[in-house]
Amino acid sequence: MQFVEAHGAKIPAIGLGTWELSGHGCSRVVEQALRLGYRHIDTAQIYNNERDVGEGIRNSHVRRSDVFVTTKVWTTHFAPSDLLRSAKDSLVKLRLSEVDLLLLHWPNPHVPLEETMGALAHVRDLGIARHIGVSNFTVALLERAVAACPEPLVCNQVEYHPFLDQTRVLAACADHGVALIAYSPIAQGHAKQNEVLTRIGAAHGKSAAQVCLRWLVQQNVAAIPRTSRIERLSQNIDVFDFELTDDEMVEIFSLGSPQGRLVHTPTEPEWD
Ligand SMILES: NC(=O)c1ccc[n+]([C@@H]2O[C@H](COP(=O)([O-])OP(=O)(O)OC[C@H]3O[C@@H](n4cnc5c(N)ncnc54)[C@H](OP(=O)(O)O)[C@@H]3O)[C@@H](O)[C@H]2O)c1
Repeated sequence: MQFVEAHGAKIPAIGLGTWELSGHGCSRVVEQALRLGYRHIDTAQIYNNERDVGEGIRNSHVRRSDVFVTTKVWTTHFAPSDLLRSAKDSLVKLRLSEVDLLLLHWPNPHVPLEETMGALAHVRDLGIARHIGVSNFTVALLERAVAACPEPLVCNQVEYHPFLDQTRVLAACADHGVALIAYSPIAQGHAKQNEVLTRIGAAHGKSAAQVCLRWLVQQNVAAIPRTSRIERLSQNIDVFDFELTDDEMVEIFSLGSPQGRLVHTPTEPEWD
């Protein structure tokens, strides 16, 4: 497994996304993923599956210190006292004494960012989260968050796959030593229909989804693909034994555009 490093955090380059997984199915997939070698699990308060994720981690019998667990605070809990309560509540549900990474899930323009960043840093100081970061932050918001936060931010988790150009966000993350964690890294399954990705994959004996993940890893980006199928769990982590050429990387970059975004919310910021 490779790692993406940022401000002392060692983030396993491939993790398991758990959005829309729940109940016994979720805990089973988490357990199976850890048994297959995954060491990074991504959940969120709003996914309503932190209990199941925690159960999967325990059932795997992988040492807690070997697993990088991320959760996210929902936007309605960004006032300082709410944020602390919410972070503690996530620990209770996960049955963990700390998470490795705690993120603000989306920007919330209705709560002063400076207050929220102070509260997030406080949660880190208390040992509830080993590292802190943000998600769905634009370049301008990331700049403000970094300036307002007394502790380093280790990541900005954003949508990123070959069909979405994230050049500006990548550059801003690099400027601040912030890791980019790619969500929807195989374009919510759409990658598999793409002719370019399929052709490049065939040249390496890999699938289009694996090409997406490899393309991200080669940019020093971490990715958190989600699947509920055991055979795809194995496939999605099997991306460390081949390398895309410079020409293939460039060809995949040419698929990207600002219109390639799949995830939208009514309150989303004005994207870069
Ligand atoms: N911070 C945020 O706001 C945010 C937003 C969205 C997502 N996320 C996180 O990012 C994770 C991943 O994003 P995502 O769930 O939107 O999309 P994704 O991982 O890009 O795609 C998941 C979809 O692709 C299919 N799939 C998985 N592996 C495959 C493979 N090897 N070949 C073909 N199809 C495959 C899955 O179906 P099967 O289950 O049938 O395999 C599922 O329908 C989420 O689970 C969540 O943890 C965060």
